[in-house]
Amino acid sequence: HKGNYEHYMQKEIHEQPESLTTTMRGRLIRGGTCKAKTVLLGGLKDHLKTIRRSRRIVFIGCGTSYNAALAARPILEELSGIPVTMEIASDLLDRQGPIYREDTAVFVSQSGETADTLHALEYALQNGALCVGITNTVGSAIARKTHCGVHINAGAEIGVASTKAYTSQIVVMAMLALAIGGDAISNQARREAIIDCLFDLPNKVRDVLKLDQEMKDLAKLLIAEQSLLMFGRGYNYATALEGSLKVKEVALMHSEGILAGEMKHGPLALVDESLPIVVIATRDACFSKQQSVIQQLHARKGRLIVMCSSGDATAVSLGGACRVIEVPRVEDCLQPVVNIVPLQLLAYHLTVLRGYNVDQPRNLAKSVTTE
Ligand code: UD1
Ligand code: M6R
Repeated sequence: HKGNYEHYMQKEIHEQPESLTTTMRGRLIRGGTCKAKTVLLGGLKDHLKTIRRSRRIVFIGCGTSYNAALAARPILEELSGIPVTMEIASDLLDRQGPIYREDTAVFVSQSGETADTLHALEYALQNGALCVGITNTVGSAIARKTHCGVHINAGAEIGVASTKAYTSQIVVMAMLALAIGGDAISNQARREAIIDCLFDLPNKVRDVLKLDQEMKDLAKLLIAEQSLLMFGRGYNYATALEGSLKVKEVALMHSEGILAGEMKHGPLALVDESLPIVVIATRDACFSKQQSVIQQLHARKGRLIVMCSSGDATAVSLGGACRVIEVPRVEDCLQPVVNIVPLQLLAYHLTVLRGYNVDQPRNLAKSVTTE
């Protein structure tokens, strides 16, 4: 039950250090003398060879589950070398897009019962692909009908807005990338850095949850806005999409996640002195590109809220012109797990302050069982 919390969404945001711990339990191997650190996904071990031989990995999901797959896509491509494509389940069905026997189709769903995802699964089964599930619900339709898969073990999620399932899904897909990648010597340092980071990730999430009051203060500033843009790129394009999905779904405020590389191809026209914009600019290979995005948005007088790595406030705030959210730095591919937390808190506080229903947003259902 809700314990000391007022809402399930709030409880589920704050329990992420624990849900991430149960997601990883028994699946990370520290490695002893002469033994490499590694991951063990019991549900996949007999299928890894087939997955490694596939021509393509296709991620299929809806809403937050799609966003989680998008966050994991770069590390899966990097470690597996296999092309990874993304499909919103309903769009794959609308197009009757090509799915082949040589494909591995990965179905991501918290509930395991989403109609669009389930129908896309039936379609992929008919087309002969290897179908892998990533679900939170043991015994769900998607868990039963996939050939194999991984339970994310995040615990029941009650709030309609998905929070702890998102972070656990990303962690499972990062572990999937490690499992498919195998232990080629060329990847070893990178793999070990990711595994070490996974062990410490619950602590980093505990640290970032300390921003709760700061996010409440930010929500007070934004309470009456019409719209909130979020710019991200690379690993954190997904963070921008997921942060804005949270804001629109529970706080009932228009919000749009924008791929920062697209800024000059349209969105820049929206920017003026009144529009609040969140820019995700934590340290990774895209950092200097995001710094220049910040400068260009600032030149158009955008009201900027920049999320950066701890210690980078001066490097991003343009002499105090931007409000800054500092978050702990982790391995680049796991940074989306940390970065989404302040945005979940922001969406939560905006919803409470605006007086809307947190756990049952209007017009929405937890499990979307009709198309
Ligand atoms: C399993 C047990 C777990 C136990 C552990 C001990 C279950 C559900 N899990 O966890 O309680 O502690 O062994 O070794 O009994 N699957 C799908 N589609 C999905 C999700 C899963 O087909 O969407 C299949 C998997 O391929 C696997 C089975 O369901 O055959 C269980 O998956 P998972 O719980 O992830 O496996 P383990 O982590 O090994
Ligand atoms: O249960 P699923 O993961 O398949 O659900 C998919 C979406 O319906 C779901 O993530 C939805 O977008 C959430 N309400 C977002 O918070």
